[in-house]
Amino acid sequence: MKIIILGLGYVGLVTAVGLANSGHEITGLDVDMNKVKMLQNENMYIYEHGLEELVKENTKNGRLAFDTLENISCIDSEVVFIAVGTPSQSNGSADLSQLKNAIEHVVDKAKSPLTIVVKSTVPPGTGKKIKEMYLEKASFKHSYVSNPEFLREGQALKDWFYPDRIVIGGDDREATAFISDLYKDIKAPIVISDVTTAEMIKYASNAFLATKISFINEIANLSDLTGANIDGVVQGISHDPRISGSFLRAGIGYGGSCFPKDVRALDFISTINGHSFELLKAVINVNNRQRLIPIQILRREMGLLSGKKIAVLGLAFKPNTDDIREAPSIEIINLLIGEGAAIKAYDPIVDGTEKNFYYQEAVFTKNVWETVNDANAIILTTEWDEFVNLDWFEVYKYTQSPHIIIDGRNVLQPRLINEIGFKYFGIGRSCV
Ligand SMILES: NC(=O)c1ccc[n+]([C@@H]2O[C@H](COP(=O)([O-])OP(=O)(O)OC[C@H]3O[C@@H](n4cnc5c(N)ncnc54)[C@H](O)[C@@H]3O)[C@@H](O)[C@H]2O)c1
Repeated sequence: MKIIILGLGYVGLVTAVGLANSGHEITGLDVDMNKVKMLQNENMYIYEHGLEELVKENTKNGRLAFDTLENISCIDSEVVFIAVGTPSQSNGSADLSQLKNAIEHVVDKAKSPLTIVVKSTVPPGTGKKIKEMYLEKASFKHSYVSNPEFLREGQALKDWFYPDRIVIGGDDREATAFISDLYKDIKAPIVISDVTTAEMIKYASNAFLATKISFINEIANLSDLTGANIDGVVQGISHDPRISGSFLRAGIGYGGSCFPKDVRALDFISTINGHSFELLKAVINVNNRQRLIPIQILRREMGLLSGKKIAVLGLAFKPNTDDIREAPSIEIINLLIGEGAAIKAYDPIVDGTEKNFYYQEAVFTKNVWETVNDANAIILTTEWDEFVNLDWFEVYKYTQSPHIIIDGRNVLQPRLINEIGFKYFGIGRSCV
């Protein structure tokens, strides 16, 4: 089947190759001419394991093509997926301008009735509004389906081909059945609902996961104060299947392009609906506070940070992605520079020099050794395997007093690191 996809970011591009792999004929459209040009030349502008190979393979076999939105004069497919961004506005609400723009184009260029499938994360009630504002006035009777995406950057293709569930929300049975059929190759439970429920499922999922993270971070903070060991606590509670062990690693908090913005958007939606979602506000506050912990430790241990040399390992908000949107590294580096510290930073995938407009005056290095050379302290902000598996004996030789390591992701072995001679600080591991 011919399918058009609007928005070729992390979600749109994965959707494009996923559906092309199932045998559909995909045209991916974006408003960003540079992205389109790169894809047309089979070059990637995002890093996602395995994506480049699948883009090349499906382009070669003729199932995948890319173009700019303005270049196409009409929509000649039955189905259009929309995977445009829905970033945060300053008041926390989701900015739906990309979505509205995409819908306007689709309605304008449609030559027959379409099924419009929205993969972008949008506040509950958005689908209803889009129908009222655009679809009911359109020349054709289009169907609207909400099909929120749950992929995780860093393992996006795996999540596409082996998802935990597929959520399809529509107010029209024929349309939901039609879209369910597109996923027939994928073995996963399909949850069918109305549009607004599907939209809420996405926010509820992200808010719940963020809550788990902030919850365990608070237990870790309390463990530091009481002498408990967070690793033991997590091990002890994870055996309970009602709790489960996932998303219970304490650290410097969540970041990325989804959790922070989606939790803020849900809080905003609650407020404008007259409900104060206190739990969510606490989740946000805990997360904002958590990333300040490395700075608090450094101040406590070293006093004034002016002139101190600090190595930051990791820029991406999590391993195996090049995404730095709302990454803790940004705030940590900028605050430390504000305190007068000299920062060197390195990430295995993110080219800091290219993204340096996010960071004030940090020096971006090409490898770990340049980064840690002469450092008084190291902050591990992203748990890349390269950092976890480092020869820390060797690293020690490069660093200088007081040889502090702040393990912002609780992935190093505290005893070993202390035995080497470092002063180790994790989150909730002070008793180790
Ligand atoms: N990134 C994730 O891990 C993830 C996971 C699940 C859901 N989501 C949600 O999916 C949506 C997309 O996320 P993303 O990370 O892929 O965003 P992104 O910012 O990486 O990509 C969005 C793309 O849409 C393009 N675009 C904007 N307006 C357009 C238009 N009118 N027509 C065509 N293209 C247009 C942009 O140029 C950009 O390339 C968001 O709502 C996000 O919350 C993201």
